[in-house]
Amino acid sequence: MSENMGGKVALALVRPHRYRAVYQIMLRDEPIGEIELDHIAWRSGEAELKISIHEEELHNHGYGTKAVVALLDQAFSKMSLNRVYLRVHANNSIAIRCYEKAGFRKEGRLSRLTEWDTLEEIFLMGITKTQFLNNAQKESQAV
Ligand SMILES: CC(C)(COP(=O)(O)OP(=O)(O)OC[C@H]1O[C@@H](n2cnc3c(N)ncnc32)[C@H](O)[C@@H]1OP(=O)(O)O)[C@@H](O)C(=O)NCCC(=O)NCCS
Repeated sequence: MSENMGGKVALALVRPHRYRAVYQIMLRDEPIGEIELDHIAWRSGEAELKISIHEEELHNHGYGTKAVVALLDQAFSKMSLNRVYLRVHANNSIAIRCYEKAGFRKEGRLSRLTEWDTLEEIFLMGITKTQFLNNAQKESQAV
């Protein structure tokens, strides 16, 4: 179980670009990591999510999930995107759990060759605008 420290996270846009939007993850006015939408495809309404919280001691406190949900709200409500996807190593259990809590579903699994000729397993995960809005509605009804 992640230890919820109760702190609210906010996103601050630092590098706006037509095909990439990078935000700092702010906790009590301090940047603790970065989250971004990359490869924004305006025509198909899709983008790839990437996230990192810098300090390991700040992992597992719920901040990642809060940042992902805030970015999905931005992507679907303000940027009118239709689908957000990501790639994650199959052994990154904390990241996978974080994404699942935010509503992502596993869509596929692939193996790719590393530069050391070993195989690594990657999950493709995704969430649509409809899924995100349905989840938000269920949560507001449960309160
Ligand atoms: C991935 C990352 C953004 C997640 O953010 P976070 O704030 O640490 O995640 P959260 O606390 O919101 O959620 C973590 C969940 O994983 C669970 N978890 C922790 N260790 C786990 C493990 N070994 N196996 C399964 N679940 C685990 C936690 O219990 C929590 O779930 P819960 O709330 O149901 O208990 C952050 O850990 C990070 O920046 N990691 C390094 C960079 C990285 O891996 N980026 C992703 C690349 S795809």
